[in-house]
Order: sequence, then structure tokens, then C-alpha cells
Amino acid sequence: MILRVKNLTHSFEHLLYEDLNFGLNASESMAILGVSGSGKSSILNHLSTMLPPQKGSIDLCGLENIYTHSKQELLRLRRYDLGIIFQAHYLFRGFSAQENLNLATLLTGVQLDTKILKSLQIEKILHQNVGSLSGGQQQRVSIARVLCKKPKIIFADEPTGNLDCQTAKSVMDMMFEYIKQNKSALVLATHDEELAYRCNFVYRLKDKKLILENQK
Ligand SMILES: Nc1ncnc2c1ncn2[C@@H]1O[C@H](COP(=O)(O)OP(=O)(O)OP(=O)(O)O)[C@@H](O)[C@H]1O
Ligand SMILES: [Mg+2]
Repeated sequence: MILRVKNLTHSFEHLLYEDLNFGLNASESMAILGVSGSGKSSILNHLSTMLPPQKGSIDLCGLENIYTHSKQELLRLRRYDLGIIFQAHYLFRGFSAQENLNLATLLTGVQLDTKILKSLQIEKILHQNVGSLSGGQQQRVSIARVLCKKPKIIFADEPTGNLDCQTAKSVMDMMFEYIKQNKSALVLATHDEELAYRCNFVYRLKDKKLILENQK
């Protein structure tokens, strides 16, 4: 298993969720639906090494109970194995799209994959400064930056939030294709029910529990 979560429990001011259990194998995808404020992004933050939960354990990419390991070990995991796509994409402004992509390859030593750039339709804007790109173009550059490093698992928080229907669909098509081709996995948080139902497992975060709503 690429991901195994046991008894995940967390609260900020109030209890957000309690004793969540789920897991994911290679080539599988899961979606988390739930009303705004239910805790979808918080779960992704736990999974992507950025928020230790109050209770529970997360086994990820061969590392057992990740938060018992050192900061360096978590950084290594994040850098080489995890692909993190958040709605606020952290591209470096003042640099070109190409330079932003080069940074990812510099950090991980993986070659840029021109197939990925082509299917995201960003080959033509690579020379442009990030500040001069549309929101949707920036989002696709940041998705390319993540996929080019060949992550073992992708955590995506509303990855198509800034995109029109058609572009959103083609971006998600290539994300699902990537997972299949590379035996990777995807955890997706979204409000888009139709998109969620393209995943192997659909969960809904409701009444502090994660309920399996569909499986294929
Ligand atoms: N760092 C934090 N400190 C305090 N409260 C937080 C923190 N992060 C999130 N919360 C609270 O936890 C709750 C869940 O937030 P979260 O962002 O996980 O929800 P969400 O399901 O992703 O919502 P949305 O659909 O709007 O993105 C919210 O009430 C939020 O205010
Ligand atoms: Mg959120």
C-alpha cells in the first residue's frame, strides 16, 4: 500500500474529524467531498507532511507513521515521493515558466518530461514570465512542475478550481493517465462531484466521519 491512514483525529477550536481510516494502492485514486470547512484541506495537509494530526498514524510510501520521523526524513519524502498541488500555486514570480520547471528538476534530478508539457498545452508559454500568465496557465505550469518530478503519490486540493470546464477536463485526463502509467496514486479534495466520481473511491467528509460513497 502506498498510503495507509489509521484513526486520524484532529481538532482546531472544535473537533474536525475522528478516527478516519482509509488507504490507497498504486494506480488508485480517491476523492474527498464535503462542505466548506469540513476539513478536506486539513486532511491533505496531514498526508503531505505539513500538519501532524492530534491522533492516528499515516504510513506513506514505505515510511511508517511518518510523524515519528525526523524533519529531514519528511523533507526527503516530500521532495522525492510526494506531488502536492494546491489551489494557491507557489510559483516563483519574476521567473519564467521554464525556470520554475527547471527548479523542480534541479531539486530532484529528474529530467523534464516534454510529453507532460505538451498534454498540458504549455510548451508555447514556457519562456513567459510567470507574472504574465493567466491564472489557468499558472495552474497548469505548477501541475507540470509537480508531475515532472514523477511523484509516487499526488495530493491535489481543488486542482482545477481556476480552469474552464474543457481545460479542467483535459488536465484531469492527463492526471489520471499519469497515475496509470506511473503506478502512482491520487488523493483529491474537491467540490466537483462529477470529477470526484472519476476516482476509484469517493469519500464524503460528514459529521466528523469519512464515509465511502462509491467504489469502482
Ligand atoms: N491552521 C488553522 N488554525 C485554526 N483553524 C484552522 C486552521 N486550518 C483550518 N482551520 C479550520 O478548520 C476547519 C476546516 O478547514 P479546511 O480548510 O480543512 O476545510 P475544507 O473542507 O478544506 O474547506 P473548503 O472546502 O472551503 O476548502 C475550518 O473551520 C478552518 O477554519
Ligand atoms: Mg479546502
